[in-house]
Amino acid sequence: MTMTSGLRKFVLTVHLTFSVGWIGAVVAYLALGVSAVTSQDAQTVRAAWIAMELTGWYAIVPLALAALLTGLVMSLGTPWGLVRLYWVLITLALTILCTVVLLLHMPTVSSLADVAREADGADLGRLGGDLLHPGVGLLVLLVITVLNVYKPRGVTPYGWRKQREERARLAQRGSAASRPEVSSPTRAGPTRGGTP
Ligand code: HEM
Repeated sequence: MTMTSGLRKFVLTVHLTFSVGWIGAVVAYLALGVSAVTSQDAQTVRAAWIAMELTGWYAIVPLALAALLTGLVMSLGTPWGLVRLYWVLITLALTILCTVVLLLHMPTVSSLADVAREADGADLGRLGGDLLHPGVGLLVLLVITVLNVYKPRGVTPYGWRKQREERARLAQRGSAASRPEVSSPTRAGPTRGGTP
């Protein structure tokens, strides 16, 4: 079902807020992770780990799920479709991958935050930081953003088949309309090709 233009703009606004917000929350998490690794002050390391746990569960996880959900609505509610174009498919796969890795990693963050709450200075120093997951995640999120903005043209085999079917249907409607004895409506919709 294709969304009306007003609804599409509204959902796109929501999608952008969540997905770009996800990137911002990961940057904040990285800043906390860096201070957990580099700071010599026990209070700062403890506070960083507690804040990383809160940022992860209450900002990054909800934003990730919301970006995925609104991305699905954007795809299914517009002529882009979900499996017609490679950029949408790759976006979907990478977003699911990031979300799954995030959900699997967060319990470890919670355990380390618990240790940080209890540990004394020397133990806190051994906790280290958490830079790999947010660092790689941030890079993947930036790749997704570039894909979504540039929208490369590659069409999947399913997308080609759909395009051919729609062209054939439009051509059929056109030829029916040009015959005077046929009184069918000639409401030819827009071609739903690779660039809606
Ligand atoms: C981290 C995750 C994501 C980020 C950072 C992101 C980013 C963006 C951005 C910046 C745009 C605006 C592009 C423009 O209007 O020029 C956009 C649009 C779009 N996104 Fe996402 N997105 C994400 C996830 C998803 C997912 C999971 C899907 C679906 C599988 C998706 C599908 C779409 C579609 C179809 C549009 C085009 C909307 C339109 O033309 O009206 N996105 N996204």
